[in-house]
Amino acid sequence: MNKQLEIIHNASFAANGHNTQPWKFSISQNTIRLLPDYSRRLPVVDPDDRELFISLGCAVENLIIAAENLGYMTEVQYFPKDEPIDCIRINLKPFTSNADEHLYKAIPVRQSTRSEYDGNPIPNADLRQLEKIKPKSDVYIQLFTDSKDIKPLTELVMEGNIKQYDDDKFLEELQTWIRFSDSEAIRTMDGLSGRCSGNPSVPRWFGKLFFSLTVNGKNQAKTDQKKIRTSSGLALFISEKDDKRSWVETGRAFERFALLATTLNIKNAHHNQPIEVPDVRNQLTGHLNLGSMKPQLLIRFGYAKPMPYSLRRPVDKIVTMS
Ligand SMILES: Cc1cc2nc3c(=O)[nH]c(=O)nc-3n(C[C@H](O)[C@H](O)[C@H](O)COP(=O)(O)O)c2cc1C
Repeated sequence: MNKQLEIIHNASFAANGHNTQPWKFSISQNTIRLLPDYSRRLPVVDPDDRELFISLGCAVENLIIAAENLGYMTEVQYFPKDEPIDCIRINLKPFTSNADEHLYKAIPVRQSTRSEYDGNPIPNADLRQLEKIKPKSDVYIQLFTDSKDIKPLTELVMEGNIKQYDDDKFLEELQTWIRFSDSEAIRTMDGLSGRCSGNPSVPRWFGKLFFSLTVNGKNQAKTDQKKIRTSSGLALFISEKDDKRSWVETGRAFERFALLATTLNIKNAHHNQPIEVPDVRNQLTGHLNLGSMKPQLLIRFGYAKPMPYSLRRPVDKIVTMS
């Protein structure tokens, strides 16, 4: 694989909403362009494409870390006017550097770990390292490790769950992206594989039936409450603005956080319900006195065994050469 394809291969390992992999890349000489693939948007859970751009940001961060480890200096240009709309352009310059490889090595190891964790606390030194991940942007990270701070946030996660699962369109969209069987997951190489959430591989008709009989807001809220209780803490990603650039920067900060956590053997999983549901987002903003700052992502973190990995489409399906 040539170096630029290898860089994109690493970018595609990034976290992304529902594992839709909403990206397209193109390569020309020493430039990589990243564009949203709007055919993979999530109009119900993400009507403004906020999480889609956060996902692109996650891919940008992996791309830069990989490029710097494969002998390039990078320059990122957000939405330049001489490119198609919403393009992120990354210019690569050959460079011999002593890039720090610990984050690079973490790229294929990072995962969203949706299991219960072991409840052990994270050493303060590691928390300080995670908190310090602050790219040169308007994104901030707030960590919560005290149960009295975590409890009200958990209640907002539960309220978000109940509101989302009460919406048939939300459930329909979610099911579209669940890969109930291994063969479905391997055929599409995208989506939320049941295995990654600790479920067995079952035929689609059975998975859908089981889902409709057992999954509801109350159950989901209780499950999430239990999972958060077993975690060492929550991390909230907040930005000053609520625009495409800030969303991409949030994705970059989150991915870097998740990679650093991976090097410390710390797992994470998303609980974005209180941000995805507009009136719960307002409550969260008020509860934390965020003023005009915008909450963007809420994750839990802690120690757990790894879960099966989610799949990615091969590079030739996401890259065009020009
Ligand atoms: C913007 C964004 C939103 C996400 N929201 C959720 C979520 O609400 N629930 C969840 O379980 N995972 C969520 N995830 C995690 C993705 O589902 C996960 O990254 C994707 O399935 C790929 O799996 P991986 O992270 O293990 O590589 C989110 C990820 C991103 C980047």
